[in-house]
Amino acid sequence: MKRILTILAALGIALSASADEGMWLLPLLQKMNGKALKEAGCKLSPEEIYSINHSSLKDNIIHFGGGCTGEIISADGLIVTNHHCGYSSIQALSTDEHNYLMNGYWAMTREQELPAKGLSITFLQSMTDVTAALEKAEKKIRKAETDEQAIAKKMQEERQALIDKAVQANKNCTAQITSFYNDNVYYLIVYKTYRDVRFVGAPPASVGKFGGETDNWMWPRHTGDFSMFRVYAGPDNEPAEYSPENRPYKAKNHLKISLNGVQEGDYTMIMGYPGRTQRFQTAAQLEQMIASQRISIDARTVRQDIMWEAMCADPSVQLKYANKYAGSANGWKKWQGEELAFQKLDIIGRELEKEKAFTAWVNQKSQRQQAYGNALKQIEDAVKASAEAEMAVTLLTEAPYRIELVGLAGRFTQAVSRQGQDAKVLNALQPAYRDYVVDLDRKEAAALLEFFRQRASEEDYPKSLGVDFDDFATMDIPAYVDYLFDESAFTAYDKVAELVNAGDWEKVWADPAVRLFNAIMTEVMERYPAMLAPEADIDAGSKAFTAGLLEWEKGKPSYPDANSTMRLTYGHVLPYSPKDAVLYKHYSTVKGVLEKEDPTNPEFIVPAKLKSLIEAKDFGRYADASDGLVHACFLTNNDITGGNSGSPVLNAKGELIGLAFDGNWESMSSDVMFEPDLQRCICVDIRYVLFLVEKLGGATNIIQELDFAK
Ligand code: ARG
Repeated sequence: MKRILTILAALGIALSASADEGMWLLPLLQKMNGKALKEAGCKLSPEEIYSINHSSLKDNIIHFGGGCTGEIISADGLIVTNHHCGYSSIQALSTDEHNYLMNGYWAMTREQELPAKGLSITFLQSMTDVTAALEKAEKKIRKAETDEQAIAKKMQEERQALIDKAVQANKNCTAQITSFYNDNVYYLIVYKTYRDVRFVGAPPASVGKFGGETDNWMWPRHTGDFSMFRVYAGPDNEPAEYSPENRPYKAKNHLKISLNGVQEGDYTMIMGYPGRTQRFQTAAQLEQMIASQRISIDARTVRQDIMWEAMCADPSVQLKYANKYAGSANGWKKWQGEELAFQKLDIIGRELEKEKAFTAWVNQKSQRQQAYGNALKQIEDAVKASAEAEMAVTLLTEAPYRIELVGLAGRFTQAVSRQGQDAKVLNALQPAYRDYVVDLDRKEAAALLEFFRQRASEEDYPKSLGVDFDDFATMDIPAYVDYLFDESAFTAYDKVAELVNAGDWEKVWADPAVRLFNAIMTEVMERYPAMLAPEADIDAGSKAFTAGLLEWEKGKPSYPDANSTMRLTYGHVLPYSPKDAVLYKHYSTVKGVLEKEDPTNPEFIVPAKLKSLIEAKDFGRYADASDGLVHACFLTNNDITGGNSGSPVLNAKGELIGLAFDGNWESMSSDVMFEPDLQRCICVDIRYVLFLVEKLGGATNIIQELDFAK
């Protein structure tokens, strides 16, 4: 009898441990997930996770720099996030002499914490469903008004009134109304943003980005993907612009850290800011998405190969281009994985099946037909109508527009259109030259123009280059590129500044880089109407389709597409099988760091100190009890996407056990469809993080600040 009970219990775990799809909305946790959370093993109540009246777990989570997530881990506002989230700030703070990106950095005192210009972090205050209020307002407006434009204007006023009221009621906050479920639900969201954020420390990029693009989006993984920052506040602990007088933010509460590690089947949850998913898109939209991404992949391959070669040849170029390269390559690899997963997992075929079943359900009732019957067709027609223009614009913006010289001329032109023909526009231009290597750009330019000529159809060729050449189809591209770079003032900041300071605007506007920028923009602008006109139809179709899907699956908990608002995903620590006969463990150890070491490959360098720490097993309290090794990374089946990067991975008690930093190759279609058997979230173990802080970085000051769970 006892044995049967154990088997049942084991089965029970296995059952609840599967299929942890969902990026859940915090205000709906109680209603939608209360029971399931408990069954999955969560020890916290929904109210302890998200409350607007009391302090709750959500107060520890921040939107980091707009595109990532971070969390507060000390009473003095210490933040941990991913290395790749701090990357651009660390790169901007680095110079050839003080190369914090490549060598790592740790502030041993508060004075050594470095202001990260332009970086801000945001706390979520509250989310309130305002759908009913807006619908009621719309009804009333429609009674008095028939003109659609006038109605839209009045609705805008309604929304602004709600926002103004929230801002008045919440000191130092901003508010916005955000749409969910493709315009079927609206929330009023209140945020508080702090703008004095300082860099505290990070391991060298060889550790924080170990494995580079080769390992990116893949398991097994051994990346120490973390960095630390601190939020500073004015004397009243409220947001303040940077000032040496500002003090570390006194956090209401902060996450406790558990050094107990993870076991297969353990409950985990992740809170953070997933950016975008397409789980309500139709097959027509998905096909178009894949086609357009292919153009980006090919264009980026051309550009990245040239960048990479120059970066490997010169450490100074490597530092200048590190962030540009990483940004480009991350999307480039993701899209390739997505394309592959679309084929392997038959994503389009399965989506079509779903649409067929949906349509059959719709056709059962005339009411449904009226509400949803036209949605799929409406979307498909609109996608078709915009496809050609969209592909042309993608090609233009991913190829010739990526010539940095064109970007510089564009940045300048836009500054003038904002500020007029005035020397102060130079302020907008100057920072871009810090990381500009003109010889590298010259090579990129020739290759990108060649690529563009091969790929574009004749009507997309830039026509308005005027004196530079008549016919893009036959022109000598290398000769043109020489002319462009020899003649343009935009190759060096001083040259542009000289012209502008001398007031020689005529020469500025005749500059070949400005002309090329204008020629490209002319082509882009010509296609904008065709690209954007069908958007209203896509919006209307998507709203109806989504509403239909929700009705079809009524009674089942549902979650909206990711839209950079805070969500919770819960699941378990799990291994997976990527293919027949292969089983991936749910964790990796520092042993694998040494196995992957390759001193001849810049992506797999292991710093000497880290190597000797691992060899000496100098792990302090961070070794796992099972094998005496520090565990580097682990896997869960939590449902995350880009933007979740840096999110805390929490155990059943809400203690920090790791940081989410990636997804796995075999399920790269996950933004579109969740794959229970394959989809994993890749997390760095908090014990690897703290081992690196203490033993590699020697930052015991940081360790002392932390709060460890018993
Ligand atoms: N794939 C990760 C994400 O998008 C980013 C990893 C950054 N690392 C890299 N090697 N590019 O969240």
